[in-house]
Amino acid sequence: MSGTTMTQTAQAATQAAQGQAQGGQQLPCYFDANRTFTWHHKTQVAGVEWKNPVGTASGTFNFDAVRPFYDVSQLGAVSTKGVSPVPWEGNPVPRTAETPAGSVNSVGLQNPGVDDYLVNDLPRLKAAGATVITNVAGHSDDDYAEVVSKLADHESDMLEINVSCPNVSADGLSTGTDPVALKRLVKRLRPLTDKPMIVKLTPNVTDIRPIAEACIEGGADALSMINTFVGMRFDIRTGKPILANITGGVSGPCVHPMALAFVYKTRQAFPEIPIIGIGGISTGEDALEFLYAGANAVEVGSAALADPVAPLRIACELDALLDQRPELAQALEEGRTWQS
Ligand SMILES: Cc1cc2nc3c(=O)[nH]c(=O)nc-3n(C[C@H](O)[C@H](O)[C@H](O)COP(=O)(O)O)c2cc1C
Repeated sequence: MSGTTMTQTAQAATQAAQGQAQGGQQLPCYFDANRTFTWHHKTQVAGVEWKNPVGTASGTFNFDAVRPFYDVSQLGAVSTKGVSPVPWEGNPVPRTAETPAGSVNSVGLQNPGVDDYLVNDLPRLKAAGATVITNVAGHSDDDYAEVVSKLADHESDMLEINVSCPNVSADGLSTGTDPVALKRLVKRLRPLTDKPMIVKLTPNVTDIRPIAEACIEGGADALSMINTFVGMRFDIRTGKPILANITGGVSGPCVHPMALAFVYKTRQAFPEIPIIGIGGISTGEDALEFLYAGANAVEVGSAALADPVAPLRIACELDALLDQRPELAQALEEGRTWQS
C-alpha cells in the first residue's frame, strides 16, 4: 500500500471511529480501529483460549494493512505468513489467476525469515494483544526444526506447521502427503517446543485419515485443514499456463464444500483432536458449517484478500449465530465440538 493510500485509509478509519462516513452514513461496526467488542462465545484450541472461534489463515493477513481498520486483538487468533529459516523470495510472477469463486496462487511462501520475524512481526503482534499462531514453513526437516527451535522461547501462543511445502527429506514431495515422512517430522519437532503444535494439512491426498493419524501419533496437539488444492489455469490466447510456476494452490469459496468434508471425516475418525477448519469461508454461515462438521475454530483466508475486515465481520456474524445455538456454543467453550 502506498504512503498516500495508507494515510487515506487511516483517515477513513478515523471517520468510521467517529461514526461519520461520507454522506452521513454510519460505516459497519467492524470498520473501527479502536473498537473493543463484547464476545459472547469463546472457544479453546489445544488449551489456548480464543475469545471467539475466528482467526486469520496464513498468508492472507498483513498487520500493517489491517490495523487502520480493526484491532487485531479482537480476533480469536492471527495465523502469520509462513516463516522459514532464511528469507525466501517466493516464485516468479504472474503468481495469481482468478477462477470462478476463487483463485489460484503460487506466491511461494515469500517471507523475510525467522530472525526478522522475531524482531519485527511477532513483538508487534503481541504488543497489539493478538493471540498469535506462527505458521512454520520449510524445505527439509532440518528447516522446520531450526524454525521451531528458534521460536521455542518467544511469545508466540501456538505454532502451525505447514506440511504442504515440497520437502527434500521426503524426496521432494510435500511431507503432508506421506504418513511415514509426516510422523517422522512431527515426532522430531515435538520435543523442541512446549508450545501447542498445530499441523496444517494439505487436501491433496486421497484419504485424510491416515495423514491425521500420523500427526496425532507424532504428537500434534491440533490439526488445521485445509491448505490449497493443486490447480492451474491457461491463457487461451497463448495456449500457455497463466502462472509462471505452472501450477498453484486453489482457494476461496469454491473449496468450501470439500474443506467441510475433510473436517467431518477427520472428526468422525478422531473425536478428540482439536481441529481448525479452513477453506472458502466468507460469511458467518460458512464458518458455522465448519463448527457443525466438528471444528473447534476456523481461519479465514482468501476472503481477507478481497476485504481486509472480513475476518472480524465473520467473527461478529458467527457470534450472533451462536447466540441462537446455545448447545453448540457451550460445547465450544468447554473444548468439545458438535460432533464429539
Ligand atoms: C495468497 C495466499 C498465500 C498463502 N500463504 C500460506 C502460507 O504462507 N502458509 C500456509 O500454511 N498457508 C498459506 N495459504 C493457504 C491459506 O492459509 C488457506 O489454507 C487456504 O487459502 C484455504 O483457505 P481460503 O479458501 O479461506 O483462502 C495461502 C493462501 C493464499 C491465497
